[in-house]
Amino acid sequence: MTSPPLAISARNLTLTLGTPAAPVPILRGIDLDIAASEVVALLGPSGSGKSSLMAVLSGLERASGGSLMVAGADFASLDEDGLAAARRGRIGIVLQAFHLLPTMTAAENVATPMELAGMPDAVARALAELEAVGLGHRTGHYPAQLSGGEQQRVAIARATAPRPSLIFADEPTGNLDAATGREIIDLLLARRAETGATLLIITHDPSLAAACERVLTMADGHIVSDSAARAAAASAA
Ligand SMILES: Nc1ncnc2c1ncn2[C@@H]1O[C@H](COP(=O)(O)OP(=O)(O)OP(=O)(O)O)[C@@H](O)[C@H]1O
Ligand SMILES: [Mg+2]
Repeated sequence: MTSPPLAISARNLTLTLGTPAAPVPILRGIDLDIAASEVVALLGPSGSGKSSLMAVLSGLERASGGSLMVAGADFASLDEDGLAAARRGRIGIVLQAFHLLPTMTAAENVATPMELAGMPDAVARALAELEAVGLGHRTGHYPAQLSGGEQQRVAIARATAPRPSLIFADEPTGNLDAATGREIIDLLLARRAETGATLLIITHDPSLAAACERVLTMADGHIVSDSAARAAAASAA
């Protein structure tokens, strides 16, 4: 039996910030394999390193040490330009604050990254993706003319329109009320199912974590529990 290909494989991954005189260890040796198309929740107390881990796994931040393969690319050997190129089209990111460009319409916010990546039909794809997230009637609106939930739908469309193999979401419902947050999660899971992407989602919401196939918990720069490892141990016992 062959195992599914890995979307992410990290060994002894570290991130140290601060200065050489006063280094601050943020990630203290992360070992992690995530299979293609897995849906994984990342939990842990504030300051435990969740956003930092996501920044490294998504190529926004360079690791200080260790090895890291993401979607077949050797992230540990790439410089910042190389990471930016590797991210383009392969990785979609949804953050708590929606980070839409205020001077661009919803359609322009979704189309622009695809245009920058040289993808054909960027505008048509953006319009189709906005339709898919239920915003077909808001494509010409500016972010300030959209509700928080609508802005997050635009951010999801922007992340999924290039059909990335990996989607990262950092507390995507953190700025929304509970009902809107639930809709956004359902939407994100539905878009993920449609595209077969791997999804890693940071959350403080236990019910959202329960909706994911696998739950990782961080504390103090380490992964301290992994539901997949527990399941493997139980089936081996
Ligand atoms: N540029 C930086 N320089 C020094 N320390 C930093 C820097 N960025 C983050 N940190 C520290 O790294 C640790 C982990 O931060 P991170 O944002 O990854 O936590 P988190 O688990 O996402 O927390 P939260 O749930 O509050 O979002 C924190 O102690 C934070 O203060
Ligand atoms: Mg965080």
